[in-house]
Amino acid sequence: MKSGKILLIAALVLGISALHYGTQLTEHHYHIFYREIYFLPIILAGFWFGLRGAVCTSLAISAAYLPFIVRHWQGFSPDDFSKVMEIALYNIVALILGMLKDRETAEHQRALESESLAAMGKAVSGVAHDMKTPLIAIGGFSRLVQKNLPRDDPSHAKLDVVIGETRRLENMVRDMLSFSKPLQLNCTQGDIGRVLEQSLAVVEERAGEKEVKVKTDLSPELPAVLIDPCRIEQVFVNLLMNAIQASPEGETVTVTGRLQGDEVAIEFIDRGCGVPEDVGGKIYDPFFTTKKEGTGLGLAIVKKIVQAHQGTLEFTNNQAGAGATFRVVLPRC
Ligand SMILES: Nc1ncnc2c1ncn2[C@@H]1O[C@H](COP(=O)(O)OP(=O)(O)OP(=O)(O)O)[C@@H](O)[C@H]1O
Ligand SMILES: [Mg+2]
Repeated sequence: MKSGKILLIAALVLGISALHYGTQLTEHHYHIFYREIYFLPIILAGFWFGLRGAVCTSLAISAAYLPFIVRHWQGFSPDDFSKVMEIALYNIVALILGMLKDRETAEHQRALESESLAAMGKAVSGVAHDMKTPLIAIGGFSRLVQKNLPRDDPSHAKLDVVIGETRRLENMVRDMLSFSKPLQLNCTQGDIGRVLEQSLAVVEERAGEKEVKVKTDLSPELPAVLIDPCRIEQVFVNLLMNAIQASPEGETVTVTGRLQGDEVAIEFIDRGCGVPEDVGGKIYDPFFTTKKEGTGLGLAIVKKIVQAHQGTLEFTNNQAGAGATFRVVLPRC
């Protein structure tokens, strides 16, 4: 299909050029007609392949038509001028058409994405909601039964597993609900350092289990930022957890905070393997995970919260394969 379209465009360009070169110069009307129908392959390429396709076609036409102009040059006569103008016009039309087409394609893509996200959110919220009540019952009753069992009872350890797994599912349900619900921010003038401290307390146990140290390096001039502290804590906890999970035992995760003009940039730098190239485009997709026990909602939630704060989230792999850096940038106020 795609190669058929390319062939048709190429055939049109070659065919029209052949007509130009094969027709006597005295047949003026024919030449004017051929010149105008050069627009046909440009328009087709723009519609089918966007900016790149349109510009490639207009450049090919320019290259094919230019020798004809040079060969019949009459010392910049009005006819020469109109030919040169026509070449400029091919390229301008290709640029404008291609840019408009690319913009329309991107908007269409965004609309599709948000439609599918909304549908996914609805389904997820239904499932999470139905799971919530039975999970509370399972967790609660298991704890109750365990409390009444002597410590040396073999069922005590088995109930530990049930309680642990229920807690994991409860966290998953909480993530699913916060992913699917519309965000309602309660913004106040918050101190990034304090929120970070609270987030560190949440991940402390996990970091300790893995013997990963977390070092903070916040600039003393960090100003107060208009944030929803609970939501930003969720962002920091998710990014810290990812960094800790990615780090080999004994390594250090570094968190830096800097003021950059009107923005505050917080970086989470780990010394893991970095994000593999084939995975990079998908890490923000809901439910995308490469971990055995991951839900794949962490970064989707982080992105949603950061964007709701008018901030940006991006990642880069550190030099020489030494881990990844996730960077959250929040506007100052
Ligand atoms: N610091 C990191 N280094 C390397 N890869 C990472 C890092 N952070 C995220 N990733 C990749 O991005 C994927 C998605 O991350 P995300 O936080 O959304 O989900 P998850 O951590 O797999 O599960 P969970 O829902 O429990 O957070 C991860 O599975 C991992 O492949
Ligand atoms: Mg995660």
